[in-house]
Amino acid sequence: MLTIAVSKGRIYEDALPLLAEAGIVPTDDPKTCRKLILSTTRDDVQLVIIRATDVPTFVEYGAADLGIAGKDVLLEHGADSLYEPLDLKIACCRLMTATRVDAPEHKGRIRVATKYVNTARKYFAEKGIQAEIIKLYGSMELAPLVGLADCIVDLVDTGSTLKANGLVPRELIMNISSRLVVNKAAMKMKNQAIALLLEQLEKTLSQR
Ligand code: ATP
Ligand code: PRP
Repeated sequence: MLTIAVSKGRIYEDALPLLAEAGIVPTDDPKTCRKLILSTTRDDVQLVIIRATDVPTFVEYGAADLGIAGKDVLLEHGADSLYEPLDLKIACCRLMTATRVDAPEHKGRIRVATKYVNTARKYFAEKGIQAEIIKLYGSMELAPLVGLADCIVDLVDTGSTLKANGLVPRELIMNISSRLVVNKAAMKMKNQAIALLLEQLEKTLSQR
């Protein structure tokens, strides 16, 4: 049995057609069903439905053999403990800094609100900017508006969330897409099944 960890929401929606090409179609819809383990049309494959940020943890510990996770999440988790063989090119966006439109040029220490604390700390350290990082779990865009932070580090796609809140994107930290990740032990123990799945996904991606 191969267990694949996927998060509900945009990654799931974008991953479904890719998985279907490999013959993997879940027998329930996680939007309407409360099950967390979904069987599929393939007897040898099941999906576990978890929070996006938990995907690397499940795969690292072998609770799932494979997972689909955003590069933002992998970067933040520190995903050296996983194989990352495939860029699925889904859920694409950018990890950026953003400030208020009228933000003054900052000198000295800045306050940065983000859920990507490790990534942000590393980014500002590499730039030689002193940054106090404030961990938030969502609605980062609010932080500069209410004086909690000078700057945020968040995902940007269309830019409409920033715009709606009077913020502007400043610097690109990284282009983001979702990746297939594989548990290192599973890669050895279930090599044949995983190699075949990788091959099927690669073929589908190359035809897109
Ligand atoms: P969690 O449930 O763990 O808090 P989340 O709410 O951030 O995670 P999603 O919003 O479904 O979960 O995002 C999952 C992934 O999709 C992100 O990690 C990122 O890689 C990508 N993503 C997030 N926002 C966008 C966006 N606006 N456009 C495209 N891709 C995005
Ligand atoms: C993500 C991200 C931004 C927004 C960017 O939020 O955290 O707020 O998308 O997309 P845009 O540039 O197209 O506006 P999401 O929609 O996932 O909401 P959530 O963080 O509350 O889950």
